[in-house]
Amino acid sequence: MSLLLLLTIVALQSSPAISDPAVSYSGYKVWAISPRTNEENQFLGKMSQQYGLTVLREARFVNSSMDLVIPPTLERDLKNVMDNANIPFVVAINDLQTAIDNQNSNNDEIPNSRAAAHNMTWTNYHRLSNIYGYMSYLATTYPNLVTLINIGTSYEKRPLYVLRISNSSSPGTNPAIWIDGGIHAREWISPATVSYFIQQLVEVPANAKLLKNVDWYIMPVMNPDGYEYTFVSNRLWRKTRSVTSNPSCPGVDPNRNFGYKWGGLGTSTNPCSDIFKGTKAFSEPETLATSNYILGKSSQIKLYLTFHSYGQYALIPYGYDVVYPPDYNDMLALANKAVSKFTKYQFSVGNSAALLYAAAGGSDDWAKSIGIKYSYTFELADTGANGFTLPASQILPVGQDFFPALEVFVSQVATTTTVRATTTKPTTKLPTTATSKKPTITPCRCICP
Ligand code: ARG
Ligand code: ZN
Repeated sequence: MSLLLLLTIVALQSSPAISDPAVSYSGYKVWAISPRTNEENQFLGKMSQQYGLTVLREARFVNSSMDLVIPPTLERDLKNVMDNANIPFVVAINDLQTAIDNQNSNNDEIPNSRAAAHNMTWTNYHRLSNIYGYMSYLATTYPNLVTLINIGTSYEKRPLYVLRISNSSSPGTNPAIWIDGGIHAREWISPATVSYFIQQLVEVPANAKLLKNVDWYIMPVMNPDGYEYTFVSNRLWRKTRSVTSNPSCPGVDPNRNFGYKWGGLGTSTNPCSDIFKGTKAFSEPETLATSNYILGKSSQIKLYLTFHSYGQYALIPYGYDVVYPPDYNDMLALANKAVSKFTKYQFSVGNSAALLYAAAGGSDDWAKSIGIKYSYTFELADTGANGFTLPASQILPVGQDFFPALEVFVSQVATTTTVRATTTKPTTKLPTTATSKKPTITPCRCICP
């Protein structure tokens, strides 16, 4: 092969052209701050707003941790502010760019010369092309089991793919479980874990029992534009990439864009906000296509699971406010059963708004509202030590720890009759047999998992 040809091939295989230069987080730190009083919590909220800080995690309660990105240019000033206010903090991540660089340091993404059937692994985080490549590989390799379904197109014209796994001779008749990941672009552990579930369900014969009487609809990357943007431009991007009324602030928070209680607490009308709700419910092609597809299968789908990070929570609707569905105790019991399977990562279970913060327009609330009885948001590992930049070496531990919980969900769903959720009114009071306390609620101010 001529050198010129070789060079051309190498050039064609390298990353696509990037319009804006990649954001560097070199010298940026992450501070973990645990406000001891409501006043301290409020003070921190004001401080982060005033300095325009990226909030990786809100402190929901006094003594829970707030994670802030500290640019090197502001470090000294902010240290003074904190010292004067007498609020202690710890440096959770000393150099964010180093954490980002180390997160994906295994070079197993380099395609080997003997054209592999797919390039997917679970020892590294992967670009969209590898995840989609793996999905089509499975569909061609296991045509009797796996179907690749194109449910629409993203804002930047990427296909939106759902994988159906069904060993039924007439798929579409079994009760079904829906799983999605990658609603939020920077939460890389989510598509990695969801694609691990796919691998386990399809390629591990011992897991065939999970396919009995249940169909699976799995969408590993609901927000592909945002996901790709985190690889080429800004590792901490959260939203979609659609154009907004402000030319310098693209993107809508897809998890504030679903059509139930859209625009309520914990959402923003400002396109520059990370919790921008969009111009209307389902303004984003990604949430619109997903919701329409789910609606078309809503008599079949008995369980809705959506994967985010981080914090290690099993969140139960509703999340738009501290409001409990009439069958909340059923939902709580199943979630508790599921998390009891975990041995490595401990999850907190409870009402989303009570445990984390109120946030309207979430996919879980919407799924519940259309009559899917069991609907959950899982915030995967970790609890803040690495945050969104969880090292790739934890993909397998996270997936392996979670997988047995899918068995719990299968046994519930396989025995579910077609009874729809009751029409009894939701309640702000905890149904009587539940045990958690109702805290006072402060909506999420900035950004969130
Ligand atoms: N971290 C997630 C978010 O901010 C939590 C969503 C929980 N669900 C809800 N409906 N609020 O989007
Ligand atoms: Zn998220």
